[in-house]
Amino acid sequence: MFDFLSFGKTPEMIKKRKTAFVRVQRFNPDEDEKPYIQEFEVPMTPETTVLDALQYVKTELDGSLTFRKSCRHAICGSCAMNVNGSNDLVCHRNLPESLDKTGVVTIKPLPYLPVIKDLVVDRTSFWEQYKRVKPWLVPPEDAPEKEFRVSPEEVAAINSAETCIMCGACYSSCQVIAMGKDYIGPHALLKSFLRVMDPRDTIPGERLDISGGEDGAYRCHTIFNCIDACPKNLNPTEAIETLRKLAQRRIAFEEERAERQKTLTEAAD
Ligand code: FES
Repeated sequence: MFDFLSFGKTPEMIKKRKTAFVRVQRFNPDEDEKPYIQEFEVPMTPETTVLDALQYVKTELDGSLTFRKSCRHAICGSCAMNVNGSNDLVCHRNLPESLDKTGVVTIKPLPYLPVIKDLVVDRTSFWEQYKRVKPWLVPPEDAPEKEFRVSPEEVAAINSAETCIMCGACYSSCQVIAMGKDYIGPHALLKSFLRVMDPRDTIPGERLDISGGEDGAYRCHTIFNCIDACPKNLNPTEAIETLRKLAQRRIAFEEERAERQKTLTEAAD
């Protein structure tokens, strides 16, 4: 049997291998009335990730275990799960550091979303809310002859927001979502913020109408769970707060941005 946990490891690293007890929430809607916890013993090295452990269980112990993963490098966002009570990317999460004193780690699906099977949740509401904010860029029909000029403040705002990988960790840690209310959600509001701050976009006013509506930025309770949950250390709460302020002065914001763009362009000529 191929021992993939030892692949690429030095003999010293392999000697240090221990085992972990991985407790996984299981649920098969065709067979189970309700979810239950199943425990597996998994070998590990200091570098083993929680995703490695799940993959070991699936490959060596129980092929029916179901979970999502793809890139294994904290880029695609598909492996977000709940580990020991907080949301995280399991491909990015070290297993030994996640164990309690008895060597146990508990893995559950993202909370507040319907479970399809085991650790796989239905993200339909997540993507539907995302589509509401028109996450794509809407450039002007006549592209300028020269490049768009961007201020340092706009670059800073765009840079922080565009590293979101849409993993859903923030959305499923949000207490407004937990209450079942209609809410655009931190992921989509962060994307709306990104587009509103982008000087190439032509519909900031329409975006502020959507994100500043009653089921948008004003529905946020400012509990900061989204900040704690974000594996990319982004700050959706701050973006939501900015959207609230900009929505209140939408026309002035559009005029200021047009004026700034004109000034920066003239300065470059
Ligand atoms: S597998 Fe892609 S982010 Fe974890």
